[in-house]
Amino acid sequence: METELEQIRAEAFAEIGQAQDEAAVEAVRVKFLGKTGRISLLSEKMRDVPKEDKARVGKLLNEIRAALTSAIDGRKSALEAERDTRALAGVDVTLPGTPVAVGALHPITQLQHRAIEIFRRMGFALADGPDIEDEFHCFDALNTPADHPARNEQDTFYFSDGRLLRTHTSTVQIRTMEKCAPPVRIIAPGAAYRRDEVDATHLAQFKQMEGLYVDEGVSVADLKGTIEFFFRELLGKETRVRFRPHFFPFTEPSFEIDLKAPALGADKWLEMAGCGMVDPAVFEAVNKSRGDAAFDPEKFTGFAFGFGLDRLAMVLHAVPDIRLLVENDVRFLGQFK
Ligand code: DAH
Repeated sequence: METELEQIRAEAFAEIGQAQDEAAVEAVRVKFLGKTGRISLLSEKMRDVPKEDKARVGKLLNEIRAALTSAIDGRKSALEAERDTRALAGVDVTLPGTPVAVGALHPITQLQHRAIEIFRRMGFALADGPDIEDEFHCFDALNTPADHPARNEQDTFYFSDGRLLRTHTSTVQIRTMEKCAPPVRIIAPGAAYRRDEVDATHLAQFKQMEGLYVDEGVSVADLKGTIEFFFRELLGKETRVRFRPHFFPFTEPSFEIDLKAPALGADKWLEMAGCGMVDPAVFEAVNKSRGDAAFDPEKFTGFAFGFGLDRLAMVLHAVPDIRLLVENDVRFLGQFK
């Protein structure tokens, strides 16, 4: 038995040395150390070894098993290392890697996120509506009569079935009030469309942010306080806000909002948004559409506002041409990381 063991040891070592890949080494392991491998078969014969030889032969058996195991493991790692070396031949792993350009949010998206965050703190929820609208939600319900210039075919994208691309996000005021009873406190950022000739200050698609607050006892003071807080949070404490009487069909009274702020550069008033107290005619139109009197104009008042996110972004970042915002030129966008 001892001779046999020595013979196995010699054979196994020779085979391990010859194994040229990991599969071959594994085959040697199975052949000698596997369940029905030669070492295992020999250990079964241990019971026939005379008593006085048992300790010596057993020790030899264990020694050979351990030696084979470590030789096999060693050969496996040597082959693995060889494979790695071959794969890395000619590669200098100490060279710095190729940098991967990291993207960032579009400046308008960044501005929109900041605006949402500020209004959220004042309890405004996000609302949404479709870009493809009907005339009712875009005009009629907003007290905008059939002969209003905004409804002109030259100014608006109409589909052949009479639907249109919304010309402002004020549609979301109507969509929201149709679904929710007062109190309502929402903002609605989104795209608006107009048939404008594209130039340095006009795009056919642009971004607006709408706001609406309806409850009992909402006043112009609430409107002014909300708008002033928003723009001071967004543009800095030194920001001055001016409300200039104006006209919008869906608010009465209506105002244009002018801003003067160091963040906006020039030391002059810049027209930035429209706002006003919701016209009772809008509540009436909503009630009619809902088929109830949830927005009773005798009980509820509200304010609304809307501003262009593109225009605000342009003034804030001194962008000279609105088209830069949609051309996706990374030389431009890379400045807003
Ligand atoms: N919808 C108007 C526009 O696109 C902006 C606006 C003005 C929205 C007054 C309002 C508002 O909610 O009260 O020019």
